[in-house]
Amino acid sequence: MIKFLDLQKINLAHQQEIEERILKTFRSGWYLLGEEVKNFEQNLSKFIGSKNVIGVANGLDALRLIFRAYIEMGVMQRGDEVIVPANTYIASILAISDNGLKPVLVEPDIATYNIDIEKIEEKITSKTRAILIVHLYGRAVWSEKLTDLAKKYNLKIVEDNAQAIGSTCNKRRTGNLGDAAGFSFYPGKNLGALGDGGAVATNDDELAKVVRTLANYGSSQKYVFDYIGYNSRLDEIQAAVLDVKLKYIDDENAKRRNIAKRYIAEIKNPKIILPQMPENEQEHVFHLFVVRTEKRDEFQNYLTENGVQTVIHYPIPPHKQACYREWNNLSFPITEKIHKEVLSLPMSPVMTGDEVNRVIGIVNLWK
Ligand SMILES: Cc1ncc(COP(=O)(O)O)c(C=O)c1O
Repeated sequence: MIKFLDLQKINLAHQQEIEERILKTFRSGWYLLGEEVKNFEQNLSKFIGSKNVIGVANGLDALRLIFRAYIEMGVMQRGDEVIVPANTYIASILAISDNGLKPVLVEPDIATYNIDIEKIEEKITSKTRAILIVHLYGRAVWSEKLTDLAKKYNLKIVEDNAQAIGSTCNKRRTGNLGDAAGFSFYPGKNLGALGDGGAVATNDDELAKVVRTLANYGSSQKYVFDYIGYNSRLDEIQAAVLDVKLKYIDDENAKRRNIAKRYIAEIKNPKIILPQMPENEQEHVFHLFVVRTEKRDEFQNYLTENGVQTVIHYPIPPHKQACYREWNNLSFPITEKIHKEVLSLPMSPVMTGDEVNRVIGIVNLWK
């Protein structure tokens, strides 16, 4: 069986370093808000070029905290609207709703699976305060049109960078393109912890301060509470592991890109629509290699029978979920088509050349 993602192998590639750092943290007797988190925050901040990084408990919290902080700062208020791609992972949308803000869904571009920037302006109202862009599947989304819209309507651009750590757009890393960004270190992400983890990045010092305070019960000073806050912290052990893996992220992303290039060049089955490599290859870190076909379920069964594990990202669009019942009758044809047709092939920095050959051969033989 060719695994969709072999997490054990991914982490064993750094076994010695990870074990040493975990042991060091274990023996230190200090497990929260210590040197490891501080150190990782600084290194991630250098890596993406952003002034402030705050380690938090997970990617959903990172985004929730950004919107909550903007509310506390008076930049937005409950009931305001935030534009978000209709085909994103549900967490992007949950972060908006959880703050009493209204998600306004915009269709994606079928060629990139990212938000269709051309369709944003028609959704902007007097209540719109932000655009939450999502660099979905690892592909960066950015353009001058987006920044022009933000300027014209005085909107914040928040990035959901959960899937795209390391990708670069106009020589700037994703997560340092907009006003603030949320990162996820869920184990399967390109930079994955051994459990949950997340981070907020921003060049806005005030926002950073409010996020840090909110994430620590709303307290900026021990036993003094400025906000009704949360407990959302990155553990010392997870920070230590992430700090080891951060050193290798560019190499590992390059390996993913090379596998993607092979898939794109060598999968010749006319029934399969392949993802496009952006003109600037650095804009894609192939968190997922997502193909599309009309008979998706048949294709997935065929691959399973032939020993290739695949996953659907994602089978049900957010507007068709029970948790957003009020949207169930809305129509987003491109989003719905994507959810019906996509399938993610095995992709990871530890896939062997032989495994890639086998996937390509099996996909090409599908009739
Ligand atoms: C696009 C996107 N946003 C947000 C999240 C939430 O991250 P987490 O699972 O760390 O809460 C994820 C991943 O799960 C994601 O893929």
